[in-house]
Amino acid sequence: MSPLSGQNILLGVTGGIAAYKAAELLRLLRGAGAEVRVVMTPAAAEFVGPLTFQALSGHPVSSELLDPAAESAMGHIALARWADRIVVAPASADVMARLRAGLADDLLTTLCLAATAPVILAPAMNQAMWQHPATRENAAVLRQRGICLLGPATGEQACGETGPGRMLEPAAILAALITAEPSGRLAGVRILISAGPTREAIDPVRYLTNRSSGRMGYALAAAATAQGARVSLVSGPTALPRPDVERHVAVESAAEMAEAVLGLAPASDIYIGTAAVADYAPAPSADKIKKDADTLTLTLTRTRDILAAVAGLPERPFTVGFAAETRDLETYARAKLAAKRLDMVAANAVGAGLGFEVDDNALHVCWPDGETRLPTAPKTVLAHQLLDLIADRYHAHHPAQDPR
Ligand code: CTP
Repeated sequence: MSPLSGQNILLGVTGGIAAYKAAELLRLLRGAGAEVRVVMTPAAAEFVGPLTFQALSGHPVSSELLDPAAESAMGHIALARWADRIVVAPASADVMARLRAGLADDLLTTLCLAATAPVILAPAMNQAMWQHPATRENAAVLRQRGICLLGPATGEQACGETGPGRMLEPAAILAALITAEPSGRLAGVRILISAGPTREAIDPVRYLTNRSSGRMGYALAAAATAQGARVSLVSGPTALPRPDVERHVAVESAAEMAEAVLGLAPASDIYIGTAAVADYAPAPSADKIKKDADTLTLTLTRTRDILAAVAGLPERPFTVGFAAETRDLETYARAKLAAKRLDMVAANAVGAGLGFEVDDNALHVCWPDGETRLPTAPKTVLAHQLLDLIADRYHAHHPAQDPR
């Protein structure tokens, strides 16, 4: 049975092009067994007609604060009490500002103020609006008050710009709601994540690197934070915006990453090594190498295996590795699990259009006495599904800390 089965979810829809995605979220929530009532702001109704939400939820949509007909059916205070959770998706910059100020100038903000249920926001707005100091501050204050922010994701926007501000995909929001119990199943758990590629200097102007974009690690960092974990992210160079994590350490080389990760690992409960760490590095030349000769030979030396080193610590965290393979995925994944003495391995196929530099991925996850497949999905969705598996295995080792 889905954890959402029988839950009363109040879905708030605010004005923005992502409002159409709220219809899909509503469909998914109902599919997961939740009872859903929809409240729209007047601006949201400019984007998608209330009839769509009425048909999908099976209930009339509320939008007016002082609507005698609606008040006689289920008054706004009764609606606030009815909700087990309030999910606002999309949450515009405007509604975030009004919630932060504690305004109750429409039905949705009034309900958020009157309800004692957890409030979850899935922000969606133009990237400049999301990055504006006012919105950043509003987001930080709302988080401090215990409001959970899911996303936004980074990517191409309806306005033609690219950056952070896209609403998380409905499937990712659903996955977050399923895995994140109101109190957060990973609440307070210290999770260390490595992400991105490393850069190995050849000389002062050149380096060796790989195709890792960092997206999987960053999606895990965001998902773990949304689930209440205390996240430290050690990241190689990426083009991604810095996520809201407790600690962010920027590194370049495999040696720097090893130092940062091994420094933080003893004080971590879980380590997830998503980084594509260079296996070999050159000894960098102090001066720029001149093109005097017809050929150039580089001698590369093995780098330290960070994952194996973490798994070998006397007080080791629950250790999860990734395995990027072009063939024999499952065999290599099991071999890495055993060779590095890991608690779990998430393996993915790499090659044309797969694994690196793309938004979607599929994982084959194995642990000493089990395995499962997570089929192709956006990395933001996979992140929540993988964290759920990690939480299961981690809590099996530490049953006293499991809030379930
Ligand atoms: N890893 C690491 N340190 C290294 C190399 C890899 O911590 N120097 C970690 C990666 O973060 C990942 C896992 O090891 O979690 C597997 O990485 P992968 O490149 O798939 O495998 P390798 O162990 O490097 O083995 P091979 O390249 O032979 O497949």
